[in-house]
Amino acid sequence: MGIQTTRLISAILRTALVLLALKVVLVTFISYRDYMPPNFDSDFLAGRQSYFWQGYHWAFYPHIVAGPVTLLLGLVLLSESFRRRWPLWHRRLGRVQAGLVLLVVVPSGFVMGFRAAFGPIAAVGLIGLAIATAATVTMGWRAAVQRRFDVHRKWMLRCYTLLFSAVVIRFLGGIGQVAGVQADWYYIQATWTSWIIPLIGVELLLLRRRHRIGVR
Ligand code: HEM
Repeated sequence: MGIQTTRLISAILRTALVLLALKVVLVTFISYRDYMPPNFDSDFLAGRQSYFWQGYHWAFYPHIVAGPVTLLLGLVLLSESFRRRWPLWHRRLGRVQAGLVLLVVVPSGFVMGFRAAFGPIAAVGLIGLAIATAATVTMGWRAAVQRRFDVHRKWMLRCYTLLFSAVVIRFLGGIGQVAGVQADWYYIQATWTSWIIPLIGVELLLLRRRHRIGVR
């Protein structure tokens, strides 16, 4: 495949991923209607009335506000041209992003994981996602402070891939609906595959890039 074709395909793929992330952010904002005040007949809150006001809400509300913000900020922070043009803003927004992920999205996701809708296997998948996200953002931050920017970029790409699982899991949910799969196992596998498969994809991409640079 020619280099032009490869570039075109990767530009189309990137645009599609950005559009998907924007769509999930928009849908989340629209679902606030069901969350504020909580509508216990809505898809996500159905069956959660007994424990919602007993602490779950302390994780839920910060999560649904900070989650979409980190998805948007991540898009800005991963942009090479933004970083080149506004390095100071990259640094400032990067601190905000790391703070939101480590102090809000991860702990709230971790706590909510224990109440995962589809039981313990889904719970472990989501708690694993929280732990992996905390690890990647910590490693990325450390590399930035040590001025190892190449390593920093790799960890932050991994971190965004994990945040992006919020998009992938909804995409998988959409596919399930279209295909008429309503089974619990389908949702349970999605709590794992929505972050592990993209993470493997990114590792392969990074390996290929390293190999290419090595060959040159
Ligand atoms: C470390 C990353 C994340 C973890 C561990 C995590 C974890 C969770 C968990 C455990 C739930 C409840 C699921 C259930 O009970 O079945 C949830 C729901 C939710 N999460 Fe996250 N999440 C993460 C990132 C994000 C991001 C980046 C967004 C951005 C859109 C987001 C938006 C939401 C929303 C809106 C809900 C409520 C359900 C809905 O309206 O679809 N999360 N999350």
